[in-house]
Amino acid sequence: MVDGDRWAQMRAMMPVMRRYAYMNCGWSGPLSDGVVDAMRRRIELETWEGPVARTAMDDKAATTARLRELTARMLNAEVDEIALTGNTTEGVNIAVNGVDLQPGDRVVTTTAEHGGGLIPAYWARERRGAEVALVTVDPEDGHGAILERFDQALDDRARMVVLSEITYSTGQLLPLRQITEMAHRRGATVIVDGAQTAGHVPIDVRALGIDAYAIPSHKWLCGPDGIGMLYVRRDRIADLDPVKVSMRAAALYDFDGHFEPERNKVTKFEVSTMSTPTMAGTVAALEQYLTTGIEETWTRARALCRYAEARFDRIPGVTVASPRSEESRTGLFLFRAGNLDPAVLTSYLYGDGAIVVRSVRERSAVRLSLHVYNNEADIDRTAELVERALVEGIPARYIEAAAHGPRE
Ligand SMILES: Cc1ncc(COP(=O)(O)O)c(C=O)c1O
Repeated sequence: MVDGDRWAQMRAMMPVMRRYAYMNCGWSGPLSDGVVDAMRRRIELETWEGPVARTAMDDKAATTARLRELTARMLNAEVDEIALTGNTTEGVNIAVNGVDLQPGDRVVTTTAEHGGGLIPAYWARERRGAEVALVTVDPEDGHGAILERFDQALDDRARMVVLSEITYSTGQLLPLRQITEMAHRRGATVIVDGAQTAGHVPIDVRALGIDAYAIPSHKWLCGPDGIGMLYVRRDRIADLDPVKVSMRAAALYDFDGHFEPERNKVTKFEVSTMSTPTMAGTVAALEQYLTTGIEETWTRARALCRYAEARFDRIPGVTVASPRSEESRTGLFLFRAGNLDPAVLTSYLYGDGAIVVRSVRERSAVRLSLHVYNNEADIDRTAELVERALVEGIPARYIEAAAHGPRE
């Protein structure tokens, strides 16, 4: 199939695209017909058979196994290295809190982290007396400059690195493999916040040699929310203690006080009942992504970002705020438009243009998440409205709307 047809087909599978130019999968991706059907089928099964009937239980076991299998395939991992979680942040927490940090140990992170990575690092300082070192990361920085800063931050007290492979606020791809090699040479555990990567960039945990990598279903993978997956390298599972525990974290127990902790199984990190319709939707989302193609998706997302750069460069008063270099560019495109407030502009784009994007307050920018179901026309339509806003101003009603708009 030629690429244009392939992307048009992806677009046709996303009902939301019939109403909106939806460019916000970096927050939450749209559900396709296939994902909704898979969830509906499971709900129907539970409705008519009962949730714990044999048929429903067999289906649940098969869905769980398939979810681990597809996640492992996407990450180049093994199924027994995949734990199911509630979201990325839970996965990051499991890994960060599982490391036995001592007072004075250093946790290295960056100035571009989402709270989902940064706050667990700060809590490690609060709880364990660890020291937090922040490596400055800006979209103009090349990988060389970033690696130099990590080199300085990773001193002999460094025990842990917590970082996003793609920053949510600038859409910057960080040199994860080199950072991991450097951290490992100094004996530090590397924990990745992959909220912006799964379903977007190819991930090869084996080639990266990473210790733990947390991802969600609901962003670039376009699965439902309420579920995430955590990869833990097999030889690191025993080193990480589970924080929230249940029978899955017991190798043996009885009611006379005997208890033997489960140390070696990745499922020790899973606590209890999870939503099977949500798992079924995630399975369908993973199948959809793997069928579309990991490399093809990555190439297309960046091609759209390049197109957006060129289009927005032609607007007087607009500055591109995401990285322009090939090594750092992703499908996240950010811009600033003169003195226009990004939240107000976002609300105007939604109200006047049926365009769904988000503002990033910390960077005073508007962010477009460009996925394979988007096209050049979505970008043109956004650029035209931005041009109009810069010339004519934004109607006052959008100031009020922005004050009450969604906040991530
Ligand atoms: C880099 C990053 N980390 C973490 C999160 C939170 O993700 P989740 O809802 O899966 O915990 C986000 C959400 O936008 C993000 O962009």
